[in-house]
Amino acid sequence: MACFRTGAQLCRQFLFSGQSSIKLFAASLSHRWMSTGKYEYIIVEKKGEKNNVGFIQLNRPKALNALCAGLMSELEQAVKGFEADNDVGAIVLTGSERAFAAGADIKEMQTKEFSEVWRGNFLSEWDALSRCSKPVIAAVNGFALGGGCEVAMMCDIIYAGDKAQFGQPEITLGTIPGAGGTQRLCKAIGKSKAMEMVLTANRMSAEEAEKAGLVSKVVPAADLVSEAVKTAEKISSFSKIASGMCKEAVNAAYEMSLKEGLHFEKRLFHASFASNDRREGMTAFSEKRPPKFTDS
Ligand code: CAA
Repeated sequence: MACFRTGAQLCRQFLFSGQSSIKLFAASLSHRWMSTGKYEYIIVEKKGEKNNVGFIQLNRPKALNALCAGLMSELEQAVKGFEADNDVGAIVLTGSERAFAAGADIKEMQTKEFSEVWRGNFLSEWDALSRCSKPVIAAVNGFALGGGCEVAMMCDIIYAGDKAQFGQPEITLGTIPGAGGTQRLCKAIGKSKAMEMVLTANRMSAEEAEKAGLVSKVVPAADLVSEAVKTAEKISSFSKIASGMCKEAVNAAYEMSLKEGLHFEKRLFHASFASNDRREGMTAFSEKRPPKFTDS
């Protein structure tokens, strides 16, 4: 049974035990927060028959999951938690049926000044998701606009519900995409379509997004999460060393020339021969039995 002290109990202990360290108190709270998964803006759990899929649902429905600082900080914590969880082989990130996310929180940004966003390198903290070493599937229903579309593109695979809409409407606010919209969209769907979306704020339907290569699958909205979890379970059933290497190699194609990328891929392929899982996979094939991967 989980046995965590309440915030009030921790407060009392802090006030009366004579312990002078505020840091200790904060650390206890933050440990409790992460351990129990009690978040304000997201729901975090594990899914799948083997409990090996990390599941994060953006949960700020009144604001259509607008990505305020608190939400993004919780998302980072949740991703880090699943990174550290050896049972989790893949992560699913979703929103609600109405909105994956309607973008960065405009009301929070409204009064910010240039010097503040420049000096604080505003939005740089959003990169945590794209640094996750485990495969992440975005399951997008409803609006994926501005930062919402950008967060989806930070994931490795995008599945869309049939009513999903993708867009980069920042130009209507007098600004531009600031979390990868001009870069990742261009690589995903090509310059002309990306330019059109960024310059006109026109939205792309799920069907168009699949045709353009932004999403890999469109499913009925009600089936979206279970489809994404099914795929995540499949990925989780393989060696985590192999899936990590696959992800790293595919992502290298974004950054490297073909020659460099091919070399990098070959080196990772060679490196996989150092793993027990590579030996087990090939032995199991030869012995006509399912492999038992140990992530070693
Ligand atoms: N930030 C803050 N609040 C938002 C929001 C956002 N991005 N998007 C929606 N909301 C809030 C609305 O203000 C509204 O709140 P109130 O009820 O308190 O007024 C609530 O969510 C519901 O929204 P609507 O009433 O507008 O719902 P709708 O169905 O009529 O329209 C919508 C939906 C088309 C998504 C519309 O809300 C909209 O255009 N939202 C803004 C989309 C946008 O411009 N996103 C880009 C943000 S900038 C960015 O993301 C920069 C970046 O690169 C990171």
